[in-house]
Amino acid sequence: MKTKTIARKPVRTGKGSSAVRAARPAKPASRAQANGKAKIQARVVAKPVSKAAKVAARSAAVPIDADLPIIYVNGQMLPKSKAMISVYDHGLLYGDGVFEGIRVYQGKIFKCKQHMDRLYHCADQIRLKIPVTRERMVQIQRECIEANKLNDGYIRLVVTRGFGTLGLDPRRCPTAGVICILDQIRLFPKEAYEAGMRVIVARRPKTPIACLDPRIKSLNYLNNILAKCEAIDFGCDEVIMLNLDGEVTEGSGDNIFIVKDGRLYTPPADAGILEGVTRGFVMRELAPALGYSCTERTLRLEDVLTADEVFLTGTAAEIIGVTQIDQHDGNGKITRSTRISDSEGPITRALRLRFREIATSNSVPEE
Ligand SMILES: Cc1ncc(COP(=O)(O)O)c(C=O)c1O
Repeated sequence: MKTKTIARKPVRTGKGSSAVRAARPAKPASRAQANGKAKIQARVVAKPVSKAAKVAARSAAVPIDADLPIIYVNGQMLPKSKAMISVYDHGLLYGDGVFEGIRVYQGKIFKCKQHMDRLYHCADQIRLKIPVTRERMVQIQRECIEANKLNDGYIRLVVTRGFGTLGLDPRRCPTAGVICILDQIRLFPKEAYEAGMRVIVARRPKTPIACLDPRIKSLNYLNNILAKCEAIDFGCDEVIMLNLDGEVTEGSGDNIFIVKDGRLYTPPADAGILEGVTRGFVMRELAPALGYSCTERTLRLEDVLTADEVFLTGTAAEIIGVTQIDQHDGNGKITRSTRISDSEGPITRALRLRFREIATSNSVPEE
C-alpha cells in the first residue's frame, strides 16, 4: 500500500518562510486539519471488547493538536500529526540516543552553545555519530522557531540511534535520526514559583556512574521516571535522588542547590548528576552577579534538610524553591517531614527574578 506523506520535499536550508510552505499540508485532509487549532482525538486502534474497556480506551485517548507545532524529523518539516519515526528506531526500542531540552526566550536560543557542546559530547560518549553538523543543528532549531512563529518556547532535540534491526547491535543502525520539536512546557504549577514546593526523597537510588553516567543526557530516563513516580504517589511533583552512598544528587529533571549562611552549594558532577546548563548559569553568572558565592560540595541529606533555602534549577523547571522535604518508608507512609521555609527563600527569589528579567530582556545569552 502506498503511504501518504505530507511534506515530501526536503526542507531548504534557507529562510523560514519557505520551510513553512514546505511543511504545510498541500491538501488538508479535513476542515479540522485545515484549522491548525482544531483538537482531534487520537484514534484508539484496538477495538474495545467490553463497556469497561471502552471507558478506559476513551480516557486513554490523547487530544492532539493536529497541525501544530511544525516539527523537524529527519530532514522534513512536518505537522505534529504526521511527525513520526520508525518503530524499528533504537531510540524507541532501547532508549538508545541522546537529547537536549533548550529554552527559547525572545526568539533567542538560551545558552545554545552549551547545549550543543553537551549534545555532541554525550553523543560521542555513547558512540553515536550525529549526522548533521553543529551549525546545521542550530539552523534546524532556528527554522523551527521561524516555522512556528514562536518567540518563547521549549526545544526538544532528540538524536536517536536510528532505524535498525530488532537486536541491540548499534552497527545495524546505519544512520542516526534527528528530531527537533519546538513547543511549550510547564513542569510545575505557576503558583509554586512563589510559594515554593514540597518534594519527596526517592528511595530508589540514582543510577551509579559506573553503570550509566548521569552526565550523559541519554534517552534512557527510566531511573528518573520511576523516582518521579514516588513523588506522584505522595502527591508531589519532584523528588530528591540520592546515590548509592547516600549523597544528594539531583531531582528527576533538575539540579539542586542549597543556601546556608548566605552561600550557595550544589553537588559536584561525581555525585552522579547531569551538569545542567541552568546550574552552570546560576553558579557562574547569576549568583556571582548578585553577590553570592557558589561552591560544588558533596551534600548529605542532612545538609539539605538543615539548609536555610533549597531550590531546583533546570531548563524546563527554570528556578523553583523547595519549602518542604518529605521522606517515606517505601510502604506508603511518610516517616519524616522537614519544613525548610514558609515560602521561597529570599536568595532563591532574587535569583529567580533576575533570571526572569534576563529571559524577558533584549540580551538573552546564546553563548
Ligand atoms: C536529570 C536532570 N538533571 C538536571 C537537569 C537540568 O539541566 P539543564 O539545566 O541543562 O536543563 C535536567 C534537565 O533536563 C535533567 O533531566
